[in-house]
Amino acid sequence: MEFLDYMKRRESVREFTGEPVSHQDLLYCLEAARLSPSSLNSQPWKFIVVDDPLLHQKVCAAIHDPLLQINRFVYGSAAIVVVLKDTSSMNLRIRTLVKKFNFTPYDIGIAVQSFCLAAVDRGLGTCIIGWGKHRRIKDLLFIPDDKEIALMIAVGHPKEEIQPKAKNRKPLESIYSFNTYR
Ligand SMILES: Cc1cc2nc3c(=O)[nH]c(=O)nc-3n(C[C@H](O)[C@H](O)[C@H](O)COP(=O)(O)O)c2cc1C
Repeated sequence: MEFLDYMKRRESVREFTGEPVSHQDLLYCLEAARLSPSSLNSQPWKFIVVDDPLLHQKVCAAIHDPLLQINRFVYGSAAIVVVLKDTSSMNLRIRTLVKKFNFTPYDIGIAVQSFCLAAVDRGLGTCIIGWGKHRRIKDLLFIPDDKEIALMIAVGHPKEEIQPKAKNRKPLESIYSFNTYR
């Protein structure tokens, strides 16, 4: 498969079969995340894979918002990967203070995309989740106060086989120019 096929097959999957995902497959995706680049090679991330059925349902309840009617589908996933922002590296702290740049959100975004592309390679479906009751999830998973939840990823076997689909994206010619701004 060509690289762009992976990009086209990676889509937000919101319907899963309910089958568990093997730890081997999850570790494959985590390895892809681990290999991702980051500012100062700071690797400011930590991943908690929640696949214990009881805990998974509790975390899903903190991601689903019945009022806003969002993220109900997560209950059908096999695992929720909670991605923590870990900026405890002293080097990163000092350099961030001095340079006043904070690249951590970009670093985490790249690692999450790596995870999701590796999942395509394993025939798995993912959906990146931005919304959730972070306080509740931190309590459920005993996450220390100094670690923040950045994103989550719902993972599972997709109900429908993943096919490359046309994506709702801006046209290519509208997002680039060569040499100068146009
Ligand atoms: C940072 C981020 C947060 C997201 N949060 C949610 C979410 O809470 N719930 C959801 O259903 N989809 C969420 N998505 C998925 C986007 O809606 C989806 O990626 C976008 O519509 C493009 O569709 P595609 O992923 O199928 O290509 C999120 C995506 C990103 C990158």
